[in-house]
Amino acid sequence: MKSSTRLVLLLSALIFTATMGSPPATALSIHSSVSKNHSLSETSSAFYFWGANGHRIVGQIAENHLSKRAAKAVADLIEPEGLAQVSTWADEIRSDPKWSFAAPWHYITVEDNETYDRLPDTPRNEQEIKNIVDAMLYCESVLRNPEAKREKKVEALKFLVHFVGDIHQPLHVGRGDDRGGNTIEVSWFWQPSNLHRVWDSGIIEQEQLSFTEYVRFIDHATDQQIADWQKATYLNWVHESFELRSSVYAFGAQQGDDIKLSYGYAYKATPTVKKRLVQGGVRLAGLLNSIFQ
Ligand code: ADE
Ligand code: ZN
Ligand code: ZN
Repeated sequence: MKSSTRLVLLLSALIFTATMGSPPATALSIHSSVSKNHSLSETSSAFYFWGANGHRIVGQIAENHLSKRAAKAVADLIEPEGLAQVSTWADEIRSDPKWSFAAPWHYITVEDNETYDRLPDTPRNEQEIKNIVDAMLYCESVLRNPEAKREKKVEALKFLVHFVGDIHQPLHVGRGDDRGGNTIEVSWFWQPSNLHRVWDSGIIEQEQLSFTEYVRFIDHATDQQIADWQKATYLNWVHESFELRSSVYAFGAQQGDDIKLSYGYAYKATPTVKKRLVQGGVRLAGLLNSIFQ
């Protein structure tokens, strides 16, 4: 055997052991002491958002698919920032009491036995926004309105970039009883977390890529996919997330209440997360291309 081949085999064996082998004892002991401590994951839970990188990935993919005109209109509103950079603003303002009324804008509750089959009318003002679908309709209408003030358009654009990302996260079309998975405590790679947080950020972060690397890896939709995805309506987006939800809750056999998620769950969920991120980005571009024709 050539020495280079031997080296590759040795390295592969090492990597396999490192990634698939049993967790280190320290990680295990952290889990056993923390899994009983319910307050920890609640206080550290991040309500309402894909992690920052999920949003940046959607924003950057959208930026990559903008028409010339849309790219100019977007730049006129937010430069020197771009869509990736402004995508997290809607989460940053959540700690500002002045914006607390916008908390329900990040998600919609649709129960398992409910059908969501009609798009609502476009809200006429911010007070009429009850959920993420209302919020997207409203932001779109502000951006299309030639009379709207410039700073309102900037705000609407930043919100829209964020919400198109959020609605592609299956748990942002959430069940009410567990607040979109926020109250379902799980361990994620032996650390306390909750189901919503795993889907906002855990699965993405597991890949250990920067958002630009992530975009380079996944921004490869075909022209046909782009055309199909951009045809879909807000209603379709909600339905897709709703349909994906059943796989989110498929933990496999679990004993008692402890839901332990790691390699197996990540392996199954990652392709779904990647698809939703690309769809979100491509659709956001389609929406902005249509608004700024
Ligand atoms: N955050 C709080 N309640 C929620 C719900 N029902 N769905 C999704 N996210 C939520
Ligand atoms: Zn979220
Ligand atoms: Zn959000």
